[in-house]
Amino acid sequence: MAKISVDTGKCIGCGACAATCPATFEMVDGKAHVKKAEVKKITCEQDAADGCPVSAITLKK
Ligand code: F3S
Repeated sequence: MAKISVDTGKCIGCGACAATCPATFEMVDGKAHVKKAEVKKITCEQDAADGCPVSAITLKK
């Protein structure tokens, strides 16, 4: 299992993660919200983490 978290203090609400990986991320009140805090296998979450302009997404593999 891999754990996914977003530092909402860092998130600037660009929405890239929700666009890249909508199964796991959604926008709530202008900030990213993790819909699934744990996934069996990292897939689009890696692209979302890599694409976040402020590196607010942490993946623990
Ligand atoms: Fe926020 Fe980064 Fe997503 S700024 S909306 S966590 S891509």
